[in-house]
Amino acid sequence: MLRAIARSNVFKQHRASFKAARFYATAKVALDAKLETPTDVEGAAQELAQVRATTEQVKASTSNALKHAFQEKTGFGTRPIYLDMQATTPTDPRVLDTMLKFYTGLYGNPHSNTHSYGWETHKEVESARQHIANVINADVKEIIFTSGATESNNMALKGVARFYKKTKNHIITTRTEHKCVLEAARSLKIDDIDVTFLNVDDQGMVNLEELESAIRPETCLVSVMAVNNEIGVMQPIKEIGKICRKHKVFFHTDAAQAYGKVPIDVNDMNIDLLSISSHKIYGPMGIGAIFVRRRPRVRLDPIISGGGQERGLRSGTLAPSLVSGFGEAARLMQKEYAADTAHIRRLSEKLTRGLLSIEHTSLNGSPEHHYPGCVNVSFAYVEGESLLMALRDIALSSGSACTSASLEPSYVLHALGKDDALAHSSIRFGIGRFTTDEEIDYVIKAITERVAFLRELSPLWEMVKEGIDLNSIEWSGH
Ligand SMILES: Cc1ncc(COP(=O)(O)O)c(C=O)c1O
Repeated sequence: MLRAIARSNVFKQHRASFKAARFYATAKVALDAKLETPTDVEGAAQELAQVRATTEQVKASTSNALKHAFQEKTGFGTRPIYLDMQATTPTDPRVLDTMLKFYTGLYGNPHSNTHSYGWETHKEVESARQHIANVINADVKEIIFTSGATESNNMALKGVARFYKKTKNHIITTRTEHKCVLEAARSLKIDDIDVTFLNVDDQGMVNLEELESAIRPETCLVSVMAVNNEIGVMQPIKEIGKICRKHKVFFHTDAAQAYGKVPIDVNDMNIDLLSISSHKIYGPMGIGAIFVRRRPRVRLDPIISGGGQERGLRSGTLAPSLVSGFGEAARLMQKEYAADTAHIRRLSEKLTRGLLSIEHTSLNGSPEHHYPGCVNVSFAYVEGESLLMALRDIALSSGSACTSASLEPSYVLHALGKDDALAHSSIRFGIGRFTTDEEIDYVIKAITERVAFLRELSPLWEMVKEGIDLNSIEWSGH
């Protein structure tokens, strides 16, 4: 009955607005609506939670952190399946185990060099720094700790541009960068620094010839992200590094989504600056790093003034617990690279096959140059927001966290030439180290059922089924 009522109301409402505007939204679901699908959402989610809470690994473990992580209770009832790994990753319990000692015994300031409390934490900080450097074949002295990739990206763009601006006042980046790169680049206008924003093709790829021809004698920096956070597209970093080195321009890459997940060698790839975020690699939030090349030396104006810590580039007392958790997370990324990569690739292929077997769905971004842990799919004739609401038992996002908050269609998908309708009907699925086969099976089934359910409510879908070519319809605007 609910289906019948919803169907007729939504249907009538949208029929009425059809003539007024070309409207992408097909069916909105009220917040409190109970969906009539064959899936017992709550029951299934509880079952899943049960499976996860009683895994052999947790039972056998002596780690309090592991037990805590899997038995966490929140005020939000049974927790949904987590598939939002680009927003953040769950802290690896082994990382938390590493961090706890700093909240009990090891409380010295790592910059205190007159007593053993300082020496102890300093030693731990330097060991973490080494682990972080190893992942990208950097020298330990080239790693500077920051609060996260947002700060690292700001440092790279503002720092380099301001240091060199007297002789070189131009930088190049792309339209599909994370907001923090785009905004940092735009903010340079007040320093009279000119910015070129390169377009990408319909697969999300930068054109190397365009990039090379955008370089001018006054260009000081090229910033191109390694893996895109919305569509998982991998840019040709090595080729870009080569071009930049040839023209003696510094090359920065935002590797927040790539570090530890795809192979990166800063020397082989001629990368001069690289941004890292700890919470994207199962480490704690609130910490990140920037790799700054020493030879040939990259100079930057620090954005924070103070005691001159971190080679004078980032003043402020380090947080040893965060640093050490980040270091352990990096060590684990390197140690478990082969296993993580195989696991994520297998689940990604299963998920992609399952989702693309639903009619009128398409994968966004290049399928070849692609990090498999990020799968972005458009479900035509279903509004993404309604689909997300119909999928409250699965934690997903329709794009980057800040974009989805504003409910603007994704600027990344726009840059690929997708229209509002398709951009609004796209969902990002993030797969990680702790994602299970059962979760992927559940998600494929749930999406298949609920896409079909929502399309049933959609007048557009009805027209498609009747064989009407939607492009042939003359829509009148307000
Ligand atoms: C590509 C990319 N760059 C930068 C950031 C910002 O990272 P952080 O949260 O460490 O500031 C993110 C996080 O969403 C990201 O995905």
